[in-house]
Amino acid sequence: MPSWAAQIETDIDGVLLTEAEIISRVKAMAREISLFYQQQDIGSITVIGVLRGAFIFLADLVRQMELEVTIDFIAVSSYGQAATTSGAVRILKDVAEPLDGKHVLIIEDIIDSGLTLNYLCAMLRARQPASLKTCSFLSKPSRRQIELNADFCGFEIEDKFVVGYGLDFAGKYRHLPYIAVLKPATYQ
Ligand code: IMP
Ligand code: MG
Repeated sequence: MPSWAAQIETDIDGVLLTEAEIISRVKAMAREISLFYQQQDIGSITVIGVLRGAFIFLADLVRQMELEVTIDFIAVSSYGQAATTSGAVRILKDVAEPLDGKHVLIIEDIIDSGLTLNYLCAMLRARQPASLKTCSFLSKPSRRQIELNADFCGFEIEDKFVVGYGLDFAGKYRHLPYIAVLKPATYQ
């Protein structure tokens, strides 16, 4: 088993977003989101984190919010290759509370094709929340298969596979405090 430092050296190309850049952007996003709801006199929202990728972003974001926030989680997994075109996702764990009449904010780690978030929005909208907004830490606009953008987005990035700050490669690297680019040789 290679050492942790050696694994990083082998798999990772470089840092795309530093911890300081992330902290500062997440603070600004929390301010923007709080203001957005305050301006509509909405004092209470339900935040739904999409597991597992969004857990770190969500934890940082909600701690800066100036609103009453309740927190729930949903866990999804994409179906195999065939189903990714349809965008169907399998719900591994549903939210714990009903959403009708609530102001819901979905928190994602990254929007790639857009299919996961599109499916989730349709599914959650059917539960008749008072409002439904989306927030993603990252977005790769060049990869979209459908037209969809988050209402609140942290950073738009190029088409590179990234890890850290909740995002994984084969379950690894979620706990890195920065966003790193994976070497193409690692996932090809
Ligand atoms: P979409 O349905 O294609 O938008 O897929 C979004 C999901 O794909 C994200 O929630 C991630 O789990 C995963 N994903 C897409 N790009 C990356 C990446 O660069 N690093 C890690 N996970 C990614
Ligand atoms: Mg994900």
